[in-house]
Amino acid sequence: MSNYHIKNLEEYFKIHRKSVREPELFWEEIAEEHFVWRKRWDNVLSWDFNTPEVKWFEGAKLNITENCIDRHIRTKGDKTAILFEPNDPNSPAEHITYNRLYERVNQFANVLKSKGIKKGDRVCVYLPMIPELAIAVLACARIGAIHSVVFAGFSSSALATRIKDSDCKMVITSDGSYRGAKTIDLKSIVDDALNDCPGVESVLIVKRINSSIDLKEGRDEWIEPLLEAASKECEPEIMDAEDPLFILYTSGSTGTPKGMVHTTAGYMIYSAFTFKNVFQYRENDVYWCTADIGWITGHSYIVYGPLANGATTVMFEGVPSYPDCGRFWEIVEKHKVNQFYTAPTAIRALAKEKLSFIENHDLSSLKVLGSVGEPINEEAWHWYNDNVGKRKSPIVDTWWQTETGGIMISPIPYVTPTIPTYASLPLPGIQPTLMDENGDEISGNQVDGRLCIKFPWPGMARTIWGNHQRYKETYFSAFPGKYFSGDGALRDAVGYYRITGRVDDVVIVSGHNLGTAPIEDAINEHPAVAESAIVGFPHDIKGNALYGFVTLKETGEGRKHENLRQEINQIITEHIGPIAKLDKIQFTSGLPKTRSGKIMRRILRKIAGNDMGNLGDTSTLLNPEVVQDIIDNRI
Ligand code: WTA
Repeated sequence: MSNYHIKNLEEYFKIHRKSVREPELFWEEIAEEHFVWRKRWDNVLSWDFNTPEVKWFEGAKLNITENCIDRHIRTKGDKTAILFEPNDPNSPAEHITYNRLYERVNQFANVLKSKGIKKGDRVCVYLPMIPELAIAVLACARIGAIHSVVFAGFSSSALATRIKDSDCKMVITSDGSYRGAKTIDLKSIVDDALNDCPGVESVLIVKRINSSIDLKEGRDEWIEPLLEAASKECEPEIMDAEDPLFILYTSGSTGTPKGMVHTTAGYMIYSAFTFKNVFQYRENDVYWCTADIGWITGHSYIVYGPLANGATTVMFEGVPSYPDCGRFWEIVEKHKVNQFYTAPTAIRALAKEKLSFIENHDLSSLKVLGSVGEPINEEAWHWYNDNVGKRKSPIVDTWWQTETGGIMISPIPYVTPTIPTYASLPLPGIQPTLMDENGDEISGNQVDGRLCIKFPWPGMARTIWGNHQRYKETYFSAFPGKYFSGDGALRDAVGYYRITGRVDDVVIVSGHNLGTAPIEDAINEHPAVAESAIVGFPHDIKGNALYGFVTLKETGEGRKHENLRQEINQIITEHIGPIAKLDKIQFTSGLPKTRSGKIMRRILRKIAGNDMGNLGDTSTLLNPEVVQDIIDNRI
């Protein structure tokens, strides 16, 4: 019997039990029945969470694009694979069929080869949400190159850090991008980044905004003429199951971003299996995830998961507020979208707008609504349920991470009863647990603790590029023998999980993970800044926003703090990107510190969140007097 598509609750429990009892058999049956392999595996799983080392389907050979494209063209070549909706609502949508996708990916792959890209080379993709982004990713996978997509909102220095970390040989970009009424000059951002990246041999440029750009002789080339001249056939590179498929960077609480490495077979199976179940995708459905492919949600649930299931996946170039706040609903109506997957921050922003933006559109095609990226608060959940889903479409609150490769805890729509703010039950194959601060597993229900996973799953990242030790320390050291997510959660009496948020120094702002330490490092470079501490505080649209406590080298009367605030945010924009700007900046006479000199962020978090009632014991601080001073001058 296939476990691939779960249809009712009883079956869910049965399948979950089987996946815990016989995990290898469980995943092996799925691998066997739902994918094409060039060679079968010798061993389903070998693992050790101490080393840590995890291998799924060792010995198997495959190419993920054969699974995502080639096999579908035999049965549904004329079906739309990617449905591209451009930024401008008056430009026509583009329906790219599986046949066309096959040709375009192969042409792109042949161009990469002609530029000397080979299996194992790293290729940085810095593109807006246009079809070429998905095609570039698939073209890399076709020839076994490792793609590293960098979200096109990151600054040149953030881009350079990522290019250098994984030693990319090539960058694929565009002349620019459209975002609502704005155009962004991506090519000059790439040029700035590349001043610092001597390893990049070539830059391929997609024409999007028709701007005039500088082409650096011997390095830069427009891609269109090369694509036109390229063959539409490209033999797929045959990959080992555990060969890296891609690197995707995620912020850590300290240090440089972590290049999470995902490998071929396990990631394919996991993204495909979770897509099928969490969205209950049926043939002929139109599925839309509003994320950007620059994040893991776009990798797994715009590109790989949907295409591995032969689905129609919508790719939207624009923003929810352009030309007005009805854009999402206009697109749902226009393409008769059946499954809609977005982030709580978008829901909260749209919930502030007039209901007529929704009421003017026919949303009756919707069957499933998804949420991802941060906890969805109850109010936003109800607004989504009442107004978008009309209380007919279940909401799947999906908890997962860049590191997990795919959804881990989520309702299965029409199967799992939903409760607002609860991500609910683990998907088959997933064994979550809660740990207390002493490192003991917490049994029973109605408890909260740190969310860990006890057993490997196929989609998990295998390492951090170039730094396996950091992988071990970050995820497998806090609770030896278990994967630690960095999130807190509670488990209720029926075993449902509710994610309560990060327990480390990562703050999720509008669904983007931001490590506070790298932002502090950036602003400490300002010549007037002595020291800084950044914490998150609740914000009605963004979920969290950033509050910076900054001490200056000189607090001279004449210092114009307004300019300084702008300068600090400018430095952050340059080092990381505008998403990391601080909403509030308070200049302080000092920062509360422990006797060993560590900044007590716990106290600052409470002050920033206006929760001063219970600051805990401050008497052990080195400088307790600054606490009152900070409270008195709170913004
Ligand atoms: C948070 C995004 C609550 C969580 C796929 C996690 C969530 C981090 C949810 C990963 C959810 C994601 N409920 N919190 N449904 N989904 N998170 O790597 O803190 O960008 O650790 O992956 O987002 O963010 P990342």
